[in-house]
Amino acid sequence: MRTSEKILVIGSSGQIGTELVQNLREIYGIDGVIASDVKVTEQAKEGPFEVIDVMNAQGLLEIVKRHKITQVYLLAALLSATAEKMPKLGWDLNMQGLFNVLDLAKEKIIKQVYWPSSIAVFGPNTPKVNTPQFTVMEPSTVYGISKQAGERWCEYYFNKYNVDVRSLRYPGLIGWKSAPGGGTTDYAVHIFHEALKNGKYECFLSENTILPMMYMPDAIKATIGIMQADPGTVKIRSSYNLAGFSFSPNDLAAEIRKHVPGFTISYAPDSRQQIADSWPQSIDAKEAAKDWGWQPEYDLKSMTDDMIKNLKNVLL
Ligand code: SER
Repeated sequence: MRTSEKILVIGSSGQIGTELVQNLREIYGIDGVIASDVKVTEQAKEGPFEVIDVMNAQGLLEIVKRHKITQVYLLAALLSATAEKMPKLGWDLNMQGLFNVLDLAKEKIIKQVYWPSSIAVFGPNTPKVNTPQFTVMEPSTVYGISKQAGERWCEYYFNKYNVDVRSLRYPGLIGWKSAPGGGTTDYAVHIFHEALKNGKYECFLSENTILPMMYMPDAIKATIGIMQADPGTVKIRSSYNLAGFSFSPNDLAAEIRKHVPGFTISYAPDSRQQIADSWPQSIDAKEAAKDWGWQPEYDLKSMTDDMIKNLKNVLL
């Protein structure tokens, strides 16, 4: 067990945080990882927990000093669909939160920062298939604009202030331990719940909307992997492209039907369709593979098999 780090996860009760905290605690011990969210959640029963509003720089500083935090994972954010409904709040939370954490590293109060970016940094003018690391971006959502600006600031803090910040552009994330909230890719989690509970699902994206996705164990492996990588290997300090596999709702429904015979899907695209249409269909992650050895394990079939097996135990 590694004991030299004291880790703070901000936004720890969300889709990524729930699983990340569990995995980090296996490595750094229960007390080596402080979970924190904007309100007390069930997670507080599992280990150290603080209530943190990441917009409150002073409150954040006090907690970081009290626990002698060395690394911060900043996961608190408004995702794509929610930020479109509350653009100003999306921008303020996503940017101010990042500055508050980056400044702790600039002042050398903490040593390392993890901050998630997203496929949402890309836009309608980006090449859609096998989207390269370096390409036209021009995001068209508030969330994407905040992530792109955040990437620029991360790189700036690295270059100007020697801040050890690391970041990944997550695709849509799928897991059974936690629920997503406010994203455009959330359908790929909801569909499993509805398939097992009701045998049918109404999808808010159209049947042939292909998006890049990843199973949560791979996302957690990548996140901890880049944070533990030798600093010299992390050559990109804005954010790395990250890839798992790509599929449409139609593809996923067909795979689920192998486990849930008779499962039916219908389509009622809403405002999230426009967001999805502005994003890539697949991602080229060769820089991550070359620089710090990224390799995904799961594909559509093995993800679906594992999701169904685990969710059955939880739901049925
Ligand atoms: N999964 C996110 C969303 O849909 C993208 O980062 O908003």
